[in-house]
Amino acid sequence: MITLHFPRGGILATIVLLSSCTHGDGPVTDIHSFSDPTSARTTHADIRWDLDFKEQMLRGSVTWTVARDDNTAARSNLVLDTKSLVIEGVRVGNADGMRTATYTHAGGSQVFGIPLTVSLEPGDDRVEIHYHTGDGGACVQWLNAGQTADNTHPFMFSQAQSINARAMIPCQDSPGVRFTFDAEVTAPDGIRPVMAAENLEERGANGAWRFRMPQPIPSYLLAIAAGAIEFKSMGPRTGVWAEPSVVSKAAWEFADSERMIEAAEKLYGPYQWGRYDIIILPPSFPFGGMENPRLTFATPTVLAGDRSLTALVAHELAHSWSGNLVTNATWSDFWLNEGFTVYFERRIMEAVYGPARAEMEAVLGRHDLMTEMAELPEGDTILHVDLEGRDPDDAFSNVPYEKGYLFLRLLDETYGRERFDPFLKAWFDGNAFQSRTTADFVAHLKQHLLDDDGTAIRLEEWLYGPGLPENSPEAESDAFDRCETLAKQVLSGKIPASGIPGKEWITHEWLHFLRAFPDDVPVARLTELDRAWNLTNTGNSEILMQWGLAAIRSGYQAGMPAVETLLLNQGRRKFLKPLYQELVKTGAGKARAVEIYRKARDAYHQIAVNTIDEILGWKQ
Ligand code: BES
Ligand code: ZN
Repeated sequence: MITLHFPRGGILATIVLLSSCTHGDGPVTDIHSFSDPTSARTTHADIRWDLDFKEQMLRGSVTWTVARDDNTAARSNLVLDTKSLVIEGVRVGNADGMRTATYTHAGGSQVFGIPLTVSLEPGDDRVEIHYHTGDGGACVQWLNAGQTADNTHPFMFSQAQSINARAMIPCQDSPGVRFTFDAEVTAPDGIRPVMAAENLEERGANGAWRFRMPQPIPSYLLAIAAGAIEFKSMGPRTGVWAEPSVVSKAAWEFADSERMIEAAEKLYGPYQWGRYDIIILPPSFPFGGMENPRLTFATPTVLAGDRSLTALVAHELAHSWSGNLVTNATWSDFWLNEGFTVYFERRIMEAVYGPARAEMEAVLGRHDLMTEMAELPEGDTILHVDLEGRDPDDAFSNVPYEKGYLFLRLLDETYGRERFDPFLKAWFDGNAFQSRTTADFVAHLKQHLLDDDGTAIRLEEWLYGPGLPENSPEAESDAFDRCETLAKQVLSGKIPASGIPGKEWITHEWLHFLRAFPDDVPVARLTELDRAWNLTNTGNSEILMQWGLAAIRSGYQAGMPAVETLLLNQGRRKFLKPLYQELVKTGAGKARAVEIYRKARDAYHQIAVNTIDEILGWKQ
């Protein structure tokens, strides 16, 4: 049991959070969940949801199957996490019958929500909760037709990672707890719901759409989306869901998905989830992608029209092994999900597009890491991060991704792929459908790969120390070296802006070129570049962000529409955050940021709102 003290609105709240899952050497405590899976553990969910677009709420029920240490003798509690949920009624019992339950739904905190504690009598193995979602949860976003690509129908989608599933369903909201589920979902005519699950052909009562997830998943991978969407097949196991005007473009952009699966399987074993589909969400989706099993959720901002941003698919697909199959046991072990996935992603990219492309991505990744680490509090530059009292989302950074990647790359380079690949495959095979800690991985490393206790590779420093250890590998790209040289030449006036081979460049080269700019490029140079390459009007969101940053830094007013466009037309946090951060550095910029945010805020997802509110010191 851990007691957290943290201030909320000036009041010091004390809450008790505890969630332990037994494995390896004993229970692992998850400080981000109220549940206690050691006494009663949810193993299966029967979900009934009605999507009420008028009220913008999800209403229905979940019946949890509960496994208990001693099913017959003991009396105990099932504690579930909830956040912004209205509980209408709770029943408890077993196959022989259900009765009204004794429960409490009180206490908790703003960040972690309210625990729902249900009393279980001997023999009870089932808990049925009727509820609907309320305001203020950061999981489901409801969009009106005007916020979608085709403007014809409303849309909704969920984003459960990290601790938002509790705002969609009462659950043991800890990555250490896994469950299977069946779901029946009703929606208005013209709206097609999809879940990260198997789509069943046959419709249920009231025309309900039916879904089944036979593999046990943690709560953060529970996902639903619904809108006027269509499906287009891309290959035997792959396809895309999107609004009609987007679906063909998306199918073209992601046509390499099947090849990616084949490359991934060759590296680390069979894909275990059946189909791999992708849904393109409306632009307010706060992430690039989310690895919901069988159905990756993706932002439309990766539809660059030239397949240059497909690393996102490689990434979310790689999570089908690192994350979805072997899951971080707590959010402090998040690097086990993301660092492994970035490493795996780049191995897939290397196999499908060649090493030069993968290396470019590694260089860009390292650049992101170094710039961000310079600003982060030291504690947040540690791989096994301390999250005591914090929402894991507040500690989100490139560190688990790119420092984690560099650590695995170090192992790859030190021991060679002949040893490292089978080692990693054995990790996935041996821990499939389990949740694991950093300490579990260290044990696996010491047993199966290292020649010593870890001293030679500075193991302790990598996992538990701040910053980047001295033995960090470094990626290199000849093409990028040329971009850098050209940037210097253009900026010094040696060659005209029109003299760069921009037509042949892929997104990555443009990004590296623009990132080589200092903070004070003369406005005349940016004007010249814009005239030659029309960067202010590029349809490529990655380039637009980098260009927008250069425009803000240099005070290039004619480039400001690029910034506004990006901030008003999409809600991906990765683009919003740096631009708002750059704007607030000057008085005039801050005023501009506030003006834009006032118009944009309502359309952003709550996850993005939380981040930007803080940057702007926003008070409603
Ligand atoms: N699982 C993450 C997204 C995430 C992380 C959501 C933490 C909520 C909390 C996903 O796999 C991811 O990393 N997406 C990246 C894209 C990727 C290519 C690095 C993103 O959204 O930018
Ligand atoms: Zn990821």
